[in-house]
Amino acid sequence: MPHIVVVGAGVLGLTTALTLAENLPQSTTQISVIAEWGPHLPSMNTSLTTSNEYVSPWAGAHFRPFPSATEKEFEELKLTRKTLQYFQELASDHPESSVKFVKGVEYLEDPSELYKTCARGYTEDLQNFKKLGVDERGFLGFEYDTWVVSPPMYLQYLYRKLQTIYGVKFITLKLDSLQQINTLFSEKPKRPIIVNCTGKGLQYSGGTDPAYEPIRGQTLLINPPPDCPYLNKTITYQLANKSWIFTIHRPLYGGVILGGTKQVGDTFLGIREEDTKHLFKLGERYFPSLMKLEARNGKEDNINKESRNGEKYFDVMKVNVALRPARRGGLRIEREKINGQNVIHNYGAGGMGYELSYGASLKVYSLVEEILNESKL
Ligand SMILES: Cc1cc2nc3c(=O)[nH]c(=O)nc-3n(C[C@H](O)[C@H](O)[C@H](O)COP(=O)(O)OP(=O)(O)OC[C@H]3O[C@@H](n4cnc5c(N)ncnc54)[C@H](O)[C@@H]3O)c2cc1C
Ligand SMILES: *[C@@H]1O[C@H](CO)[C@@H](O)[C@H](O)[C@H]1NC(C)=O
Ligand SMILES: *[C@@H]1O[C@H](CO)[C@@H](O)[C@H](O)[C@H]1NC(C)=O
Ligand SMILES: *[C@@H]1O[C@H](CO)[C@@H](O)[C@H](O)[C@H]1NC(C)=O
Ligand SMILES: *[C@@H]1O[C@H](CO)[C@@H](O)[C@H](O)[C@H]1NC(C)=O
Ligand SMILES: *[C@@H]1O[C@H](CO)[C@@H](O)[C@H](O)[C@H]1NC(C)=O
Repeated sequence: MPHIVVVGAGVLGLTTALTLAENLPQSTTQISVIAEWGPHLPSMNTSLTTSNEYVSPWAGAHFRPFPSATEKEFEELKLTRKTLQYFQELASDHPESSVKFVKGVEYLEDPSELYKTCARGYTEDLQNFKKLGVDERGFLGFEYDTWVVSPPMYLQYLYRKLQTIYGVKFITLKLDSLQQINTLFSEKPKRPIIVNCTGKGLQYSGGTDPAYEPIRGQTLLINPPPDCPYLNKTITYQLANKSWIFTIHRPLYGGVILGGTKQVGDTFLGIREEDTKHLFKLGERYFPSLMKLEARNGKEDNINKESRNGEKYFDVMKVNVALRPARRGGLRIEREKINGQNVIHNYGAGGMGYELSYGASLKVYSLVEEILNESKL
């Protein structure tokens, strides 16, 4: 009986395990997931506020397509469209997944030619795409239908489905190498097919992919005011000086993300006050309706806030910091035979892990099929 071991329980690992479970015959295939961190940990350990070992809960997350600058980007954008299609089904048939469709709005202060011409990769398969023209502030705008998701809820949704419907086994363990997997299972075959969804790219014999290049992101999770206009749209401003400011609603009462920084090569996992101030400043300018109004007469509408009579403020529930697992050369999906063992790579999603998740899992599935077909020969 073929045994497939998925390493990693981030959005890539869980989605891959689910696609394999949905498509391979359950009676003749065993699927296991090994991860150091994952949604199977008790209550998602709230003290684990930041991590570069487990990025998925700290994402926005939404789908923000962009025009392709390279052939590789275009290939990846095709995968995002498979996810788009799949998320349309989830939004209508499985609202408990927390996937929701909203209006996506973008404003660019200094758009590249690729945006101005809506170059390939940008508008394909988007519904209700509109170029809004340049507004009085000088920003070029676009809008289209897109999805948002509450990452912690979506990860739980995938995990529970894997466990209850497909009986996938989860093992909590930090591996020193992929090769170590062969010592864990006594059943035959002893050398399972390994699917490597470790984000940074754990190597077969230890270490991580040298092409790994973290991109730090700090965002604020905001408890929105009652009449918040950002619950049925996600808005991104790309400023001329390369700063970004955006809102992403996390459905099912998950709050609103106000983000975010993109600091290439920066591996600081603590909260940086300077970044929080930067987000407050741009947030006040571009998203004032995300702020609450402090009640007058010293009466506060949030017990944890000092009284700021009549002042507007962001009701911050949490500051999120994580390192997007980017890879020079982009997402790596390919099979490799190491010491006679089949390994399938699926890592290096950078800032697009949710967007790529389902499309990437279909590619892994076809590589698994290829291996199983060969073994039948
Ligand atoms: C601020 C921010 C905003 C983002 N916004 C978006 C967005 O809007 N849309 C979007 O699509 N993406 C977004 N992303 C990116 C997204 O979060 C990542 O691309 C995605 O989470 C990567 O998933 P992954 O499964 O590859 O990695 P991870 O979630 O990091 O999972 C890696 C898994 O591998 C396991 N693992 C690693 N090494 C070992 C080992 N040695 N032994 C055992 N287990 C191991 C870990 O325990 C974990 O389970 C954002 C990221 C950040 C930081
Ligand atoms: C939660 O994570 C922190 C930080 O890694 C760790 O110190 C703590 O032991 C964890 N708690 C539980 C209940 O796993
Ligand atoms: C996976 O293992 C392979 C083989 O060691 C390695 O080259 C690659 O970088 C690793 N990363 C992942 C996640 O596959
Ligand atoms: C979003 O909500 C606002 C009211 O808050 C409403 O005017 C608008 O039509 C809604 N838009 C969509 C796309 O549902
Ligand atoms: C871009 O400009 C905004 C305000 O105009 C400022 O807050 C921000 O720090 C600037 N970003 C960079 C990268 O200089
Ligand atoms: C594997 O074999 C099946 C059945 O013969 C076939 O339908 C499928 O296309 C093959 N898949 C791959 C990826 O080779």
